[in-house]
Amino acid sequence: MNPNKALWEKGDFTQIAASMRESGEALVRQLGVQPGLRVLDLGCGDGTTALPAAKLGADVLGVDIAQNLVEAGNRRAREMGLANCRFQEGDASALVDLKDKSFDLVVTIFGAMFAPRPDDVAKEMVRVTRPGGRIVMGNWIPNDPTLVAQILKISSAYAPPPPAGFVSPMTWGIEDTVIQRFTGAGVPRGQVSFERDTYMFDFPGTPVAFLAVFRRFYGPTMNAFEAAEKNGRAEDLAKELETLFTSQNRSKDATTIPATFLRVTVVV
Ligand SMILES: C[S@@+](CC[C@H](N)C(=O)[O-])C[C@H]1O[C@@H](n2cnc3c(N)ncnc32)[C@H](O)[C@@H]1O
Repeated sequence: MNPNKALWEKGDFTQIAASMRESGEALVRQLGVQPGLRVLDLGCGDGTTALPAAKLGADVLGVDIAQNLVEAGNRRAREMGLANCRFQEGDASALVDLKDKSFDLVVTIFGAMFAPRPDDVAKEMVRVTRPGGRIVMGNWIPNDPTLVAQILKISSAYAPPPPAGFVSPMTWGIEDTVIQRFTGAGVPRGQVSFERDTYMFDFPGTPVAFLAVFRRFYGPTMNAFEAAEKNGRAEDLAKELETLFTSQNRSKDATTIPATFLRVTVVV
């Protein structure tokens, strides 16, 4: 079994994505999506950004490695009556079913960053984008003090060491590395730009209840707890994460947590 696929099929990211809908819609509103625009959403999950793009009239394909999330995306598109949005399985490292230059916009929000072989991922995204089209990535930033970067950092400290040759997904949050990957894929340096942006996580319960959702449904956190349980450290991990979730919460009666990310725009 492909470990990258297994990681994301292990849990149910729809449970986390439910807290990210407003930011997904807000981000898509900033992308100048017009009716008929050909959009690829890579690592699309259950459609947090794919479905808002389709609502604006784009012709959207969502590609994700996790079969359960592809099914969830197709179900949500059907329920919303969006015939211009479909989801299929695929790997951002090798988009074998997709033709060269076939999209005007490739969006990947905390998606392609999790695929192995990042240089291949950059090449594949450039290959399927038409000349003059755009790639927009949302990437978590290593050592950033906000929620998701910290969840991944804390979780990795409890999980077993990664296999030799593993490249951390967080390297997509380092500007110089991102530039190297896209220039390596043939894009001139001046066509890659960066800004810091914020995603909001909104949950109708306490921060501790929100953490319980991550523990039960978010692959990287599930793996960290499994490993921590084996060596008697699950309580320590829970305490560290509870402190994180509680300290980052901005709401008095529910959970609202902002998380900073690196937004990368590439003009192909
Ligand atoms: C953090 S979730 C983000 C999902 C979605 N973009 C959103 O904003 O809700 C990461 C997603 O990337 C997908 N993914 C991980 N590795 C992938 C790969 N190699 N190719 C395609 N999708 C991948 C996962 O299955 C998961 O849906």
